[in-house]
Amino acid sequence: MAEPLLANVPPDESGVGRGALAVPAPCGSAAPPGAPATAAGTDRSAPAGATADASVPGAGGGFAGPASLADFAGLARAALPPEVWDFVDGGSGTETTLTANRAALDRVAVLPRVLTGVDRPRTEAPLLGRPQAMPVAVAPMAYQRLVHPDGEPALAAAARAAGVPYVASTLSSTRIEEIAAVGGEVWFQLYWLRDRGMVADLLDRAHAAGCAALMVTVDVPILGRRLRDVRNGFALPPHVTAANLPGGRDDLAHQGTPGVSAVAVHTGAVFAPALSWADLAWLRGRTPLPLLVKGILDPRDAARAAETGADAVVVSNHGGRQLDGAPATATALPEVVAAVGKRCEVLLDSGVRGGVDVLRALALGATGVLVGRPLLWALAAGGRAGAEAALALLAAELRDALTLTGCADPAAARHLHTTTGG
Ligand SMILES: Cc1cc2nc3c(=O)[nH]c(=O)nc-3n(C[C@H](O)[C@H](O)[C@H](O)COP(=O)(O)O)c2cc1C
Repeated sequence: MAEPLLANVPPDESGVGRGALAVPAPCGSAAPPGAPATAAGTDRSAPAGATADASVPGAGGGFAGPASLADFAGLARAALPPEVWDFVDGGSGTETTLTANRAALDRVAVLPRVLTGVDRPRTEAPLLGRPQAMPVAVAPMAYQRLVHPDGEPALAAAARAAGVPYVASTLSSTRIEEIAAVGGEVWFQLYWLRDRGMVADLLDRAHAAGCAALMVTVDVPILGRRLRDVRNGFALPPHVTAANLPGGRDDLAHQGTPGVSAVAVHTGAVFAPALSWADLAWLRGRTPLPLLVKGILDPRDAARAAETGADAVVVSNHGGRQLDGAPATATALPEVVAAVGKRCEVLLDSGVRGGVDVLRALALGATGVLVGRPLLWALAAGGRAGAEAALALLAAELRDALTLTGCADPAAARHLHTTTGG
């Protein structure tokens, strides 16, 4: 039996906790922080694993809190203005890749080992050679003050409490210095900007702030066509800014125009589309920090990133937000693992929704995973306490998954066999 879920979350600390899962204060463009709760749009179809109101399927009368990471989706949806929910939840185009990420993970069946004599597995595992409480990092996600007024520092504090790295986005709504001051292990995610002086400045600031690693995202030459944002004419509310990029055309992200995503216009103005291997080599030479390359799907690119000195590649399709029609990451992962061999670590990103998915990734050869949307859902639902609850749940699920496969630790899970097709 796993440890009691959410046992580390005082019920009075937030809307999330045992028996106290109230609809939290909403955030975002339609309602300033602290405004009364508004109903989420009820005319849109529910996302996979989510519910359209603050209750959770199967909760019955004795509901004591989220039983899975997916349960946080319904809470977040109820708390957020519809266009903010869409910004977080949506993918690009027809959302084929977004859907495929889950389907591919669900197709990975892991063969349990039995009679291994394992009692209580350890979840600890290194990432980039540094010890972590579990082989999980919080994926870089822009503008976290959109979903909760406490934003990035709250999620970073939850990551610190869980003993896992927090990856701070270039497009954070809090300055990197303030995020790093929270403590714990913070990695900085770099988007390549047209202005190389700004890139160099960000690198220096991240290093000076004490970031432990640099993650460069290479799958965003332009923003994918996220149709929900286009249809919503999505723009950032005034209180949410790209805090790391003073003078970086922030105004463009705030100019709402029907039929236009202001976020896409903004990134189009500041991101450099023509990032190349020469730039990656420059970056490798420019920073002493361990370097992760996020957004790899082709094994040839993975091999070249390793040759260029990457310490890890992140197999990612950006959670289905970039090329619609790109393969699911669980499908792409095994060839990438084979291509890099022992030259660098491989992390899986996109679609991870629980401890069994971490196990699946390990069994397919990954060193660890990034988790994205579920932690934004939890942040939206309950601030820092909500995110702590989600990460505690993930650790408990991983421990259960290791127990059920006879693994003493995550390293043992990398020797498990998988099969596909159910
Ligand atoms: C709201 C949102 C904002 C994101 N912002 C960034 C970002 O600033 N930088 C980045 O590299 N990836 C960003 N991503 C992608 C995530 O890092 C990650 O690849 C993706 O969320 C993983 O898929 P998942 O949400 O299914 O776990 C963002 C994703 C979401 C949902």
